[in-house]
Amino acid sequence: MSIETIPLFGLGTWRSEPNEVGNAVKEALKIGYNHIDCAHIYQNESEIGEAFKSSFNSGINRNDIWVTSKLWNDSHRPEHVKSALKHTLSNLKLDHLDLYLIHWPIAFKHGITFPSIKDEYELIENIPISETWQALEECVKEGLTRQLGVANFTINKLKPLIKNSEIKPTVNQVELHPYLAQNDLKDFADENGVILTAYSPLGAPHLERNVDMIKIMEDDIVVSIAKEKDLSPAQVLIAWAINRGTSVIPKSSNPGRLKQNLEASYIELSKTEMEQLNSLDKGLRYIDGTFFTTKSPYTTEYLWG
Ligand code: A2P
Repeated sequence: MSIETIPLFGLGTWRSEPNEVGNAVKEALKIGYNHIDCAHIYQNESEIGEAFKSSFNSGINRNDIWVTSKLWNDSHRPEHVKSALKHTLSNLKLDHLDLYLIHWPIAFKHGITFPSIKDEYELIENIPISETWQALEECVKEGLTRQLGVANFTINKLKPLIKNSEIKPTVNQVELHPYLAQNDLKDFADENGVILTAYSPLGAPHLERNVDMIKIMEDDIVVSIAKEKDLSPAQVLIAWAINRGTSVIPKSSNPGRLKQNLEASYIELSKTEMEQLNSLDKGLRYIDGTFFTTKSPYTTEYLWG
């Protein structure tokens, strides 16, 4: 029997370096992770596939592990959807995914990894999400993925998808941490049976940032709760996500931090601690999508509106 719904805690693999990600996945599966979040665009799926193969050969059961991947923006046309999914499956050395997401609500010309000029984009009007979705539904019917979802979708983009689809999205993966709680989206998701998955839950510490962009792991409240409970700030942030009822996928390639993060998924925060963390919300997006809105037909208003 496979897992029915997305496990709340998982391993993120965005920016997991080659020659590093395979060991991270093997170590994670060995110590009890049961959810690995992947994407074609992370360009590390074949190494993850080798790690799956070796882990499944050494006693871990594929059906006990939840695997998510994501359709890249250049494969939204219905005729490209199935081959993109099959390519990911071949890289991951799996015969099916548990969840396949539309990575962003924007489209590129086929074969363009990252557009550098406006012409390399496709207008979403020319490839509506509904058409991409129908092709994804066919993939479910063929057994290539068990569930479907989206990432970086706002309420306005989720609404028509939920209303018009035969197979409903089960997950919306978005940036979430106490500085970007997205409470309206969370309420909408709860009302519509969609689970939110939190990406960059530690505030994407690898990012270069301007002076106004405070690192959430250095926030006074996060640090003081961590000290009081003898935890790390990262553990407080992971516990906040789980206690709030979202799924969360911190990335790490370090064995000690992999273990620490998994342990955080069992930590209970008190009502007061949750309230203190909830009070930090200020709508701060670390991943603001501007890489898709310069020299592009897409605007920030479209992306987050
Ligand atoms: P590393 O792989 O060396 O552990 P996010 O998921 O928000 O993008 O954060 C991922 C980043 O946070 C990675 O750079 C990762 O580095 C680091 N990280 C992961 N777990 C922890 C932790 N428990 N404490 C501090 N940093 C962490």
